[in-house]
Amino acid sequence: MAEQTIERADDYRVAFTRMSDGTSEELNHIIEQANEHLHGHLVNNLLGSLQGLAGPTLGYRVDRLEHSLQTATRAHRDGARIDMVVAALFHDVGDMLAPANHSELAAAILEPYLDEECTWVVRHHGVFQGYHYWDKIGLDKNTRDRYRDSPFFDAAAHFCGAWDQEAFDPSYDTLPLSFFEPMAREVFARPATGFKTD
Ligand SMILES: [Fe+2]
Ligand SMILES: [Fe+2]
Repeated sequence: MAEQTIERADDYRVAFTRMSDGTSEELNHIIEQANEHLHGHLVNNLLGSLQGLAGPTLGYRVDRLEHSLQTATRAHRDGARIDMVVAALFHDVGDMLAPANHSELAAAILEPYLDEECTWVVRHHGVFQGYHYWDKIGLDKNTRDRYRDSPFFDAAAHFCGAWDQEAFDPSYDTLPLSFFEPMAREVFARPATGFKTD
Protein backbone atom coordinates (compact mmCIF):
# COMPACT_ATOMS: atom_id res chain seq x y z
CA MET A 1 0.00 0.00 0.00
CA ALA A 2 1.36 3.43 -0.93
CA GLU A 3 2.31 5.55 2.07
CA GLN A 4 -0.04 8.45 2.60
CA THR A 5 1.55 11.87 2.80
CA ILE A 6 -0.40 14.53 4.64
CA GLU A 7 0.42 18.10 3.69
CA ARG A 8 0.27 20.54 6.61
CA ALA A 9 1.04 24.22 6.97
CA ASP A 10 4.24 25.05 8.89
CA ASP A 11 2.18 26.62 11.67
CA TYR A 12 -0.16 23.60 11.98
CA ARG A 13 -1.20 22.89 15.55
CA VAL A 14 -3.32 20.05 16.87
CA ALA A 15 -6.85 20.82 18.10
CA PHE A 16 -6.60 19.09 21.47
CA THR A 17 -5.70 20.73 24.75
CA ARG A 18 -5.50 17.53 26.76
CA MET A 19 -3.68 14.37 25.66
CA SER A 20 -6.73 12.14 26.08
CA ASP A 21 -8.62 14.12 23.41
CA GLY A 22 -5.89 13.66 20.76
CA THR A 23 -6.74 11.70 17.64
CA SER A 24 -4.35 9.02 16.37
CA GLU A 25 -3.50 11.29 13.46
CA GLU A 26 -2.70 14.22 15.74
CA LEU A 27 -0.66 12.13 18.13
CA ASN A 28 1.33 10.55 15.32
CA HIS A 29 2.01 14.02 13.99
CA ILE A 30 3.34 15.11 17.38
CA ILE A 31 5.56 12.03 17.65
CA GLU A 32 6.95 12.68 14.19
CA GLN A 33 7.62 16.35 14.97
CA ALA A 34 9.11 15.60 18.36
CA ASN A 35 11.38 12.86 17.03
CA GLU A 36 12.72 15.07 14.29
CA HIS A 37 13.24 18.08 16.52
CA LEU A 38 14.55 16.37 19.66
CA HIS A 39 16.88 13.91 17.95
CA GLY A 40 18.08 16.60 15.56
CA HIS A 41 19.09 18.86 18.43
CA LEU A 42 20.35 16.25 20.86
CA VAL A 43 24.03 16.14 19.97
CA ASN A 44 24.32 19.94 19.92
CA ASN A 45 22.56 20.12 23.29
CA LEU A 46 24.92 17.53 24.72
CA LEU A 47 28.03 19.19 23.33
CA GLY A 48 26.73 22.46 24.77
CA SER A 49 26.19 20.84 28.15
CA LEU A 50 29.73 19.52 28.06
CA GLN A 51 31.07 22.99 27.29
CA GLY A 52 28.97 24.22 30.20
CA LEU A 53 31.28 22.24 32.48
CA ALA A 54 34.09 24.68 31.70
CA GLY A 55 35.06 27.00 34.51
CA PRO A 56 34.46 25.65 38.00
CA THR A 57 37.29 23.39 39.14
CA LEU A 58 35.55 22.45 42.40
CA GLY A 59 39.04 22.57 43.87
CA TYR A 60 40.56 20.07 41.45
CA ARG A 61 43.49 21.17 39.28
CA VAL A 62 41.39 20.91 36.10
CA ASP A 63 37.79 21.95 35.45
CA ARG A 64 35.03 19.45 34.72
CA LEU A 65 35.29 19.95 30.95
CA GLU A 66 39.02 19.22 30.95
CA HIS A 67 38.43 16.20 33.17
CA SER A 68 35.85 14.90 30.68
CA LEU A 69 38.11 15.53 27.68
CA GLN A 70 41.09 13.98 29.46
CA THR A 71 39.08 10.87 30.36
CA ALA A 72 38.05 10.53 26.69
CA THR A 73 41.61 11.20 25.50
CA ARG A 74 43.01 8.49 27.75
CA ALA A 75 40.30 6.07 26.57
CA HIS A 76 41.03 6.86 22.92
CA ARG A 77 44.81 6.48 23.34
CA ASP A 78 44.23 3.21 25.16
CA GLY A 79 42.52 1.89 22.02
CA ALA A 80 38.93 2.04 23.28
CA ARG A 81 36.16 1.69 20.68
CA ILE A 82 34.07 4.69 19.70
CA ASP A 83 31.18 3.83 22.05
CA MET A 84 33.51 3.73 25.02
CA VAL A 85 35.28 6.95 24.05
CA VAL A 86 31.91 8.72 23.78
CA ALA A 87 30.93 7.19 27.13
CA ALA A 88 34.12 8.62 28.61
CA LEU A 89 33.43 12.02 27.04
CA PHE A 90 29.95 12.31 28.55
CA HIS A 91 30.29 10.26 31.74
CA ASP A 92 30.16 13.38 33.95
CA VAL A 93 27.79 15.49 31.82
CA GLY A 94 25.20 15.25 34.60
CA ASP A 95 27.45 16.84 37.23
CA MET A 96 25.68 20.20 37.24
CA LEU A 97 22.15 18.80 36.89
CA ALA A 98 22.19 15.74 39.14
CA PRO A 99 25.05 15.97 41.62
CA ALA A 100 23.46 13.28 43.81
CA ASN A 101 23.16 10.72 41.00
CA HIS A 102 25.15 12.03 38.05
CA SER A 103 26.17 8.53 36.90
CA GLU A 104 22.54 7.52 36.41
CA LEU A 105 21.70 10.70 34.55
CA ALA A 106 24.55 10.23 32.06
CA ALA A 107 23.64 6.56 31.58
CA ALA A 108 20.01 7.47 30.89
CA ILE A 109 21.10 9.93 28.20
CA LEU A 110 23.54 7.51 26.57
CA GLU A 111 21.58 4.27 26.86
CA PRO A 112 19.51 4.55 23.64
CA TYR A 113 22.67 5.08 21.55
CA LEU A 114 25.51 3.09 23.15
CA ASP A 115 26.07 -0.62 23.54
CA GLU A 116 25.04 -2.30 26.79
CA GLU A 117 28.54 -2.53 28.23
CA CYS A 118 29.27 1.19 27.82
CA THR A 119 25.94 2.18 29.36
CA TRP A 120 26.55 -0.16 32.30
CA VAL A 121 30.00 1.28 32.85
CA VAL A 122 28.71 4.86 32.87
CA ARG A 123 25.80 3.94 35.18
CA HIS A 124 28.17 2.42 37.75
CA HIS A 125 31.26 4.59 37.32
CA GLY A 126 30.65 6.50 40.55
CA VAL A 127 30.89 3.34 42.64
CA PHE A 128 33.90 2.06 40.70
CA GLN A 129 35.63 5.44 41.02
CA GLY A 130 35.06 5.09 44.75
CA TYR A 131 37.53 2.21 44.80
CA HIS A 132 40.28 4.81 44.32
CA TYR A 133 39.41 7.13 47.21
CA TRP A 134 36.37 6.21 49.28
CA ASP A 135 38.49 4.72 52.09
CA LYS A 136 39.88 8.21 52.72
CA ILE A 137 36.45 9.74 53.29
CA GLY A 138 35.01 7.06 55.53
CA LEU A 139 33.29 4.95 52.87
CA ASP A 140 33.87 1.37 51.79
CA LYS A 141 36.15 1.46 48.75
CA ASN A 142 35.18 -2.11 47.90
CA THR A 143 31.49 -1.29 47.44
CA ARG A 144 32.02 -2.14 43.76
CA ASP A 145 32.42 -5.78 44.80
CA ARG A 146 28.64 -6.11 44.83
CA TYR A 147 28.95 -6.15 41.02
CA ARG A 148 31.63 -8.87 40.83
CA ASP A 149 29.27 -11.17 38.95
CA SER A 150 28.58 -8.63 36.22
CA PRO A 151 30.17 -9.37 32.83
CA PHE A 152 31.02 -5.66 32.75
CA PHE A 153 32.89 -5.50 36.08
CA ASP A 154 36.37 -5.51 34.50
CA ALA A 155 35.41 -2.89 31.93
CA ALA A 156 34.14 -0.54 34.65
CA ALA A 157 37.24 -1.18 36.79
CA HIS A 158 39.45 -0.32 33.81
CA PHE A 159 37.36 2.74 32.86
CA CYS A 160 37.89 4.25 36.29
CA GLY A 161 41.34 2.87 37.07
CA ALA A 162 43.06 3.80 33.81
CA TRP A 163 41.04 6.79 32.58
CA ASP A 164 38.57 8.47 34.96
CA GLN A 165 40.58 8.57 38.17
CA GLU A 166 43.72 9.49 36.20
CA ALA A 167 42.11 12.45 34.44
CA PHE A 168 42.88 15.31 36.81
CA ASP A 169 46.30 16.27 35.45
CA PRO A 170 46.69 19.79 34.04
CA SER A 171 50.02 18.84 32.38
CA TYR A 172 48.51 15.97 30.37
CA ASP A 173 48.24 16.46 26.60
CA THR A 174 44.43 16.47 26.48
CA LEU A 175 42.74 16.47 23.06
CA PRO A 176 40.20 19.24 22.34
CA LEU A 177 36.44 18.80 22.07
CA SER A 178 36.70 19.27 18.27
CA PHE A 179 38.62 15.97 18.10
CA PHE A 180 35.75 14.05 19.70
CA GLU A 181 32.85 15.91 18.07
CA PRO A 182 32.70 13.66 14.96
CA MET A 183 32.54 10.59 17.22
CA ALA A 184 29.69 12.12 19.21
CA ARG A 185 27.84 13.03 16.01
CA GLU A 186 28.25 9.48 14.70
CA VAL A 187 26.93 7.90 17.88
CA PHE A 188 23.93 10.21 18.31
CA ALA A 189 22.97 9.88 14.63
CA ARG A 190 22.06 6.25 15.35
CA PRO A 191 18.39 5.39 15.73
CA ALA A 192 17.50 5.47 19.41
CA THR A 193 16.63 2.13 20.98
CA GLY A 194 14.55 1.26 24.00
CA PHE A 195 11.63 3.72 23.95
CA LYS A 196 10.40 3.55 27.53
CA THR A 197 6.81 2.60 28.08
CA ASP A 198 6.98 1.98 31.81
FE1 LIG B 1 31.67 10.87 37.72
FE1 LIG C 1 34.85 11.54 36.04
